[in-house]
Amino acid sequence: MAFPWWRDAIVYEIYVRSFADASGDGVGDLAGVRSRLGYLAGLGVDAIWLTPFYPSPMADGGYDVADYRGVDPLFGDLADFDALVSDAHERGLRVIVDIVPNHSSAEHPWFRRALDAPPGSPERDRYLFATGSGDAPPNNWRSTFGGPAWSRLPGGEWYLHLFAPEQPDFNWRDPDVPAEFLDVLRFWLDRGVDGFRIDVANGLFKAAGLPDAPPDEQGFKAESPIWGRPEVHEVYREWRKVLDSYRGDRVAVGEVWTDSVTDLARYVRPDELHQTFNFPWLLAPWSATALRKVIDDTLRIVPAPTWVLSNHDVVRHRTRYDETDPGAGLPRARAAMLTTLALPGSAYLYQGDELGLPEILDLPDEVRQDPVFTRTGGEIKGRDGCRVPLPWSGTTEPYGFAPEGVRPWLPQPAEWAELSVRRQEGDPGSTLEFHRAAIALRRELRGSLPTEIIWLDAPADVLMFTRGPLTCVLNCGDRAVPLPPHHSLLIASGPLPGEALPPDTAAWLSPPPPH
Ligand code: GLC
Repeated sequence: MAFPWWRDAIVYEIYVRSFADASGDGVGDLAGVRSRLGYLAGLGVDAIWLTPFYPSPMADGGYDVADYRGVDPLFGDLADFDALVSDAHERGLRVIVDIVPNHSSAEHPWFRRALDAPPGSPERDRYLFATGSGDAPPNNWRSTFGGPAWSRLPGGEWYLHLFAPEQPDFNWRDPDVPAEFLDVLRFWLDRGVDGFRIDVANGLFKAAGLPDAPPDEQGFKAESPIWGRPEVHEVYREWRKVLDSYRGDRVAVGEVWTDSVTDLARYVRPDELHQTFNFPWLLAPWSATALRKVIDDTLRIVPAPTWVLSNHDVVRHRTRYDETDPGAGLPRARAAMLTTLALPGSAYLYQGDELGLPEILDLPDEVRQDPVFTRTGGEIKGRDGCRVPLPWSGTTEPYGFAPEGVRPWLPQPAEWAELSVRRQEGDPGSTLEFHRAAIALRRELRGSLPTEIIWLDAPADVLMFTRGPLTCVLNCGDRAVPLPPHHSLLIASGPLPGEALPPDTAAWLSPPPPH
């Protein structure tokens, strides 16, 4: 049987606020996405994932949802959404939307009603309200964005927010909450979405009684009083039934930050989620040993694997690789992408990866919008640097992101001029054309690639594996290595002088025909 589409898909993450602004208010929108579908189809991706576009006060860029069934006027309206889905489908692109079940916005009608209702009321039971002791919060939990995870109300009760105070956590033990989300899933499935990206998928349930967490268990863990409670799996079993009741292969991919690969697999049982993001891949340092370990662990333990190098929450991979070895970021980013695309499973690309965009590290403090920045008193700069609006064309702001003369919501740097889509298009040495070629080749080979890889002997600092007609070699070392004899070159991530593979370069080869 042929695989369902998502098993080896290339999914392109669109951070809607920063992709393309059609309305001219400096913020990306759904009509902007729709106007660029031709570009995405040309890039060769199979699906797009849209970050939240729902009505929201934008305390966390839209991950604070006030209405799960609408479109924020900033991004358009439901008609724009429907038009986008329909145009995407016409071009053969699937559409995945983001669902945020761990918390809502403090402006969600349920939370507003809860605030108006007395302690112990059914309205308050949908969230996690508790009494503290004296002036101390109910427990020692910390917010992922810095500071305590509790805020106090004038009446004396506290409410839990694992993220910003504007993002109160739902109480998943209240039956209204699971029922509401099943209905929200159906709402978007009925509108034709092909799947969901589940925000903070290992959150939702908290240990009964809300006990203190040991100091080393405040961060993301496979299991702690805060994360990875066993009850969450039952939720995804219910969700899976809903997804399976629709025609077409609808997919659910979970965002699970955890310290264990086994835990990633736990969400991907046959009756649960289809996939989880493979963050160990993006966390791995530039080392053949480290990368090989992630590949081995993933392929051994995680069914339906995925590969992620960047997203809207992390420093862009070009800059991560640059940090340890200045100047090596771009060649390594290209080599990492070629390796990613050679692996069995799906690849999740983040907008701008294909342009080789760096993280913008020197945004002025006053333009930063990430709550992480304010919650840590500026100690942690936050995630705005990977969210700078894309450069499409032109030599000055807004670089085609918005109509001429419009100021984008985050300033774009002068280096965008050299990195724009227009600038790179048609230049065979460009990062964009490299991505297009690699994706096209992967599509061509798709039907003939087995799901296993076979490791081949290689020098230290080099990875080499085959998948049927494809051999992938990655050189993480600091000297060139000879390529295996008699192979023919399919594509390389950078220039290949002679028969050798330079440092920070990957290549796809086709093995010699058997004789
Ligand atoms: C996820 C999102 C991130 C958001 C957080 C809280 O990690 O990817 O952007 O801030 O959840 O919703």
